[in-house]
Amino acid sequence: MRIGVIGQVGSYHLETSSLRKQCNPKLRCQQEAAAALSKYNKGNFTNPAVCFREISLSWSTQKKMKRNGLECRAEATGSIRATAASIEVGSSERSPSSLEIAGANIVETMFQPVLDAGPPDHSARRVSKVTVVGVGNVGMACAQTIITQDLADQIALVDISANKLRGEMLDLQHAAAFLPRADIVADTDYAITAHSDICIVTAGARQREGESRLALVERNVSFFKQIIPELVKYSPNAILLIISNPVDALTFVAWKLSGFPSNRVIGSGTNLDSSRFRWLMANRLQVNAHNVHGYIVGEHGDTSVPLWSSVNVGGVPMIQFLQDKGILVEKDTLEELHRMVVDGAYEVIKLKGYTSWAIGYSAASLVKSLLRDQRRIHPVSVCAKGFHGIEDEVFLSLPAELGRSGIIGILNIPLTEEETQKLQASAKALAEIQRKLDI
Ligand SMILES: NC(=O)c1ccc[n+]([C@@H]2O[C@H](COP(=O)([O-])OP(=O)(O)OC[C@H]3O[C@@H](n4cnc5c(N)ncnc54)[C@H](O)[C@@H]3O)[C@@H](O)[C@H]2O)c1
Repeated sequence: MRIGVIGQVGSYHLETSSLRKQCNPKLRCQQEAAAALSKYNKGNFTNPAVCFREISLSWSTQKKMKRNGLECRAEATGSIRATAASIEVGSSERSPSSLEIAGANIVETMFQPVLDAGPPDHSARRVSKVTVVGVGNVGMACAQTIITQDLADQIALVDISANKLRGEMLDLQHAAAFLPRADIVADTDYAITAHSDICIVTAGARQREGESRLALVERNVSFFKQIIPELVKYSPNAILLIISNPVDALTFVAWKLSGFPSNRVIGSGTNLDSSRFRWLMANRLQVNAHNVHGYIVGEHGDTSVPLWSSVNVGGVPMIQFLQDKGILVEKDTLEELHRMVVDGAYEVIKLKGYTSWAIGYSAASLVKSLLRDQRRIHPVSVCAKGFHGIEDEVFLSLPAELGRSGIIGILNIPLTEEETQKLQASAKALAEIQRKLDI
């Protein structure tokens, strides 16, 4: 076994079988190779099976390997060239990085380095990576939206269904000519998620028609016990973005299981509910939803709270403005609109079986604020203890400023007495669920 470099792109391929005779004595077996790569590539590739994939190492890693006497060939040898297309040992998968025709490397033939070129410095390039766990309707809507909006350089997809994963990966890759460039990888092995900036979790059972989100919780906690420790192992500095329902309880579960600080564990919460709210209002006012500002806070679900007192249209506080004009806004009208927000998901599920597009865009908006340090304010599920008189360590949505480090701060939004009471009731309902969880 040995490690070779193919062309000038710094991609390494591990190879066995025909090359055994030329073995570097320092790399005699799979396990040794795995250990070596693990050591010199920040512990990414501890599983020997993973080593038999294409592995990209930076030039600084190559130098480190050389210094430590590990074989690192700067030129492609004939036999390595010949096997460049067959990367995975024992599999017929083809390498996307190199093409051979009649013994000629087509990449090297078509592209030549400029005069006096240095080696590519991969370490200088900041690669943003987003993992999506669960490639169902929601996971794929998230992945697709993130790619379309050019938010990440790498997308790693993980699921328990290997066939579905490969099918979804290929389907997205086939759109490469129409999309911003992104590396899309997929595997049931969490090693591919290594060094993610954000890990989005959409895996799990989804709501059945008429099923409350809270009834889902026990089913999904058991999935999280498998998923979260794996994500933490490979991306200890990531931000976790939880979408699986019931999202508030599962964000709490993810926080507990991960051991991450609470600013790096976020639930998509009422970001979507607030969009539904703004859309309903915008529709009635015949104005762009971007100009209608208002938050739904609390639980992503039945006990959510619409903050009518702070709704504004183009900067004009709506309820106050109407009152000043002597127009009485009937409570029933407001409650009906809120009911439509809460029932929105159930209606879509009844009609098409699941929700996907809106949550995909909601997730992408959160990823953009986080990865690009946009410092936008989103109502998302956060550890709410200490805010608005909430005493429990409960996760629910509050307007939060999001940036590269996760939650930067919670907006001190003034609430009426009634809004405060409803928010506290929502917190109590969620705390009750949390207490029952086996965490
Ligand atoms: N927070 C929100 O606003 C919001 C909105 C819509 C849906 N959701 C939730 O998102 C979740 C996914 O919904 P969906 O419609 O995509 O469901 P789906 O059934 O289409 O997809 C779920 C995927 O998870 C995978 N999976 C199951 N267990 C797994 C495990 N242990 N590890 C990895 N993958 C696993 C399944 O194979 C499947 O591909 C549900 O919990 C749903 O209620 C949340």
